[in-house]
Order: sequence, then C-alpha cells, then structure tokens
Amino acid sequence: PVQMTFYEAVGGEQTFTRLVRRFYEGVADDPVLRPMYPEEDLGPAEERLRLFLIQYWGGPRTYNEQRGHPRLRMRHVPFRIGATERDLWLQHMRAAVDSLGLHEALERQLWEYMVMAAHSMVNVAEEA
Ligand code: HEM
Repeated sequence: PVQMTFYEAVGGEQTFTRLVRRFYEGVADDPVLRPMYPEEDLGPAEERLRLFLIQYWGGPRTYNEQRGHPRLRMRHVPFRIGATERDLWLQHMRAAVDSLGLHEALERQLWEYMVMAAHSMVNVAEEA
C-alpha cells in the first residue's frame, strides 16, 4: 500500500502479539506489578492490551468492539500508579520493544508513545 499504517509497517498482528507476550512475561515475574492485576490469569489482560495497541496503531478496531471507548486513564483509576509502578511498567515494555528488532525510526516512535502513555497513567503523587 502507498499509505501504510504504523501497524502494517512494524509487521501487523504478529508483532503486537510478540510485544505484549514479552511484556506480560516481565509483569508475571514482577513482585510490585503482578499483585495489581485482579485476575489470577494474565491472559485476558494481555489480550486487552494487545487489541488496544493494534487499534491505536491503525489495525483492526476489535478493542472498541469488545471494550468500548478506551478511556484508559479512567480504567486505571482503581489501581495505584505512582512513579514506581510507571517505571516498572516501562522497564518491562522496554525489554519487550527491544525484543522485536524493529528499524530504529519505528522503534523510536513506538517507544516515545509508551513513555508518554505511561506518564499519563500516573494517578498518585509519590515522594521522590
Ligand atoms: C489494564 C496496570 C499503563 C493499557 C490494566 C490493568 C492494570 C494495569 C492492573 C487491569 C488489568 C486488566 O486488564 O484486567 C498498569 C500500570 C501501568 C499501566 C501499573 C503503569 C503506568 C498502561 C499504559 C497503557 C495501558 C501506558 C497503554 C499504552 C491498558 C489497557 C488495559 C489496561 C488497554 C485494559 C483496559 C480495559 O479494556 O479494561 N493496566 N497499566 N496501561 N491497561 Fe494498564
């Protein structure tokens, strides 16, 4: 296609599947983040993040069909997200992004979004 979406440029569905799988492997072993997830099985949370990211980057809009408008900040209000949680989230996401082996410009675009989004999800002030 002449106008490729970012979703297509990075390799489509399989790339996002790999990304979130690697990310949740990190979360599964994280003593701070793991207890925040209400469900015993991380699979459904992995699927929600996968579908959200696919939709955000121009792929199929299955997330909205299943979950409605993302309203991500609102959906995170039940969870206490300070700088500590944000930085751990980003640490696992960094490892996941690195594992994809994307071209530099695509990788930078993906990473800058993750940093921005993670900062926007912080909902408690924390002492430094
Ligand atoms: C849901 C934690 C940042 C996207 C959740 C859940 C937790 C959580 C505990 C509930 C799990 C579930 O879906 O059942 C965190 C923490 C973050 C963070 C600690 C640290 C900053 C982000 C960011 C994004 C994101 C930056 C997007 C780029 C999502 C999505 C859901 C979700 C799409 C599912 C929403 C739904 O449809 O219900 N998150 N999150 N999160 N998170 Fe995060």
